[in-house]
Amino acid sequence: MNKERSSSVTVWGPASLSNIGPGFDTLGLAIEGFGDRIRAVLRNDDLQEVVVAPVLPVDYPLDPAANTAAVAAKWVLSRSNVRKSLTLEITKGIPLGSGIGGSAASAAAGAVAANVLLGEPFDKNDLVNAALEGERVASGVEHGDNVLPALFGGLCLVSPDNPRSFQRMHVASGLSIAVIIPDLQIMTSSARMILPSSVDHRDAVVNGANLAFLVTAFGSGDWSMVGEKIMTDKLAEPYRARLLHGYDHIKQAALSAGALGAALSGSGPAMFAVSDDNEIASHVLVAMANACKESGMDSIGRVVGVDRDGTRVLDA
Ligand code: HSE
Repeated sequence: MNKERSSSVTVWGPASLSNIGPGFDTLGLAIEGFGDRIRAVLRNDDLQEVVVAPVLPVDYPLDPAANTAAVAAKWVLSRSNVRKSLTLEITKGIPLGSGIGGSAASAAAGAVAANVLLGEPFDKNDLVNAALEGERVASGVEHGDNVLPALFGGLCLVSPDNPRSFQRMHVASGLSIAVIIPDLQIMTSSARMILPSSVDHRDAVVNGANLAFLVTAFGSGDWSMVGEKIMTDKLAEPYRARLLHGYDHIKQAALSAGALGAALSGSGPAMFAVSDDNEIASHVLVAMANACKESGMDSIGRVVGVDRDGTRVLDA
């Protein structure tokens, strides 16, 4: 039965690290500290339309057909039996094309906001379809390694050929992550085009094995193993690294400052470094920011933990 509806709701969709080394299109981790905020307002007309209201700075598409949050919200609205419309006010805390799942955070927040306003006709598992539909607008494919952690929080293992098949995985406590976003935009759709159509058999086997070790290490809190394994990808990161001038320098800076491992997040340019100590992670962050500067780029960064809650209502 539908719950009583209020006329507006504000929802938070967290950022997420995706791929995480050998887990191309398969592994994603929701993080604290970065996210998109969406206020959705119910309108009393029977058009069943979703409108994106401009909120300054307008650093996202206003066309509802090209906006991941609006597409996800429309999925929910058009499958509900509510003949009303929605206006979305989006505050992007995640820069577009930054590599920490901005399109997925907005899609997940758009789906949840619409669902809450319409009286929760769907459960979170249904909303996976809505959020994936939104993600497809941004990257051209329904990869789920940002959408699933953004929706549910924590670490998610997702099937690359069917992102509706996923598993939430345990993450032990005590992980500190330094996240740096160089001032450079890399669109996922273009970063997917530079990947090879076939890979070496041995490389695929090694990636699969390392992914299993990595997921196990997240669960047991073996952060040294996590650090080692996030640096083993052979299928995507070696090709994408060349899109980020300074990749080697930033990674080396993180390791020299005490990180247990460092890698690209998603298709970049964001990079992340893991450690088991908050103070070390702060030094690592400064070292990565300096390396960005030395490579000719400004950056923003933060030391973050794991977001275990996923997309959630801030007020109703
Ligand atoms: N798995 C996706 C990719 C994530 O690497 O293309 C994009 O952020």
